[in-house]
Amino acid sequence: MDALRRLPDATVLTDPEAMEPFRHDESHVVGCAPLAVVRPRGPAALRELVRLARSEGFGLVPRGAGTGKAGGCVPTARTVVVDLAAWPGSIRVSPQDLSLTAPASALLRDVKATAAESGFFYPPDPNSWESCALGGTLATNAGGPNACKYGMTRHWVLGLEALLADGEIHRFGISSVKANTGPSLAQLLVGSEGIFGLILGATLRLTPQPREYATLLLPVKRWMDLLDLPGRLSAAGFLPSAFEFFDPAVLADLRAHGPEAARRLPGEALAILEFDERGCTSDDFLGALADLLGPVADGLEIAADARQREGIWAVRRVTSAFLKERYPKKVSEDIVVPRSRLREFFERLERTGIPSVSYGHLGDGNLHVNLLAAGETPHEALEAQLGTLFRLAVELGGTLSGEHGIGLAKREAFLALAAPGHIETLRALKRALDPDGIFNPGKVI
Ligand code: MLT
Ligand code: ZN
Repeated sequence: MDALRRLPDATVLTDPEAMEPFRHDESHVVGCAPLAVVRPRGPAALRELVRLARSEGFGLVPRGAGTGKAGGCVPTARTVVVDLAAWPGSIRVSPQDLSLTAPASALLRDVKATAAESGFFYPPDPNSWESCALGGTLATNAGGPNACKYGMTRHWVLGLEALLADGEIHRFGISSVKANTGPSLAQLLVGSEGIFGLILGATLRLTPQPREYATLLLPVKRWMDLLDLPGRLSAAGFLPSAFEFFDPAVLADLRAHGPEAARRLPGEALAILEFDERGCTSDDFLGALADLLGPVADGLEIAADARQREGIWAVRRVTSAFLKERYPKKVSEDIVVPRSRLREFFERLERTGIPSVSYGHLGDGNLHVNLLAAGETPHEALEAQLGTLFRLAVELGGTLSGEHGIGLAKREAFLALAAPGHIETLRALKRALDPDGIFNPGKVI
């Protein structure tokens, strides 16, 4: 503890009250009390921290803004939280390279805004995009509504800076989409949830900022018909930049108790569809779209301007918090089901009798299934319900997490359901990269 307090170029907290917030993220997981919270400001602090961690046998738990949903940044036993909020660096756009460089401490909101100021778009948009830190989005490979067209965070990472177990900061990748010198170490770290090293900054790919949006509210007459739409849109050559949904129960709740924009909507279930390509507001485009959607739609509203578009997205963005307020003890998941099996998934979920409501990212099959009986259910019964849900997703060719990651929340289920050889391969990589197990111990594997 004395050595920690003397760390060069860092702020060190050891007061239990000051450290209390660091035991939580935005999941239900509560971590252990950390030995200390360290805010490094330069390489000397990290070098010494790694040396101490290896010689004294404690772990290093990376932390961005604490907005994760799987307990990935909460402390396990005998760990120090490495809070990267003070990690130095500025956000810089290179229009020539079509890239942006930023430190892990940058807020995603500022990364997106800086790109936009230069006419560029950085697509990853997790629901916490206004408050989360870039480093956390890299470590968790964050997604969001735009993933159905633009992919996840990993698809936008060109290069990374990371602290590894030798105590040094390494740079992987270059400022170009073409770099083909064997396996990508930058990509190995994206989504690693801090178990191989600590991500300190990145060079990100940009694309021109869309200039046109067609944003539609689509209530449907029959909920199950909505489930075929992602496939039917692709087959017809449409590629939405977002395709979100609310099942009948979530829509009924939103209509009765939610924000103004949701109150007057017809339909048994509801989707938000957005297109951002050039020409998407033309009569031709919208006419062809209306022809395709017409048979299932129960009315169709197109945002007339930016204010109406914002109103539609406001309903979607508050849904997670809204449901949490209505069902404080619910457990929210983020499974993935291949789009071709969505109808089958919901039919089979209904037959399990598990009380749940769902919303989320229909366009890429990433479903936020919320288990409602969680609070009243003994632990084993909840585990059984989660097991049924995850197994169903895996059986249909999907997986147990599409965007929130494994962390502590889903570790046991991940260990039980991963494909043969998957966990062993991850453990072999972990042993090679982090032989003393100092990075985010107890997480993922
Ligand atoms: C969302 O899409 O709203 C979030 O990923 C879900 C959540 O906050 O649990
Ligand atoms: Zn989501």
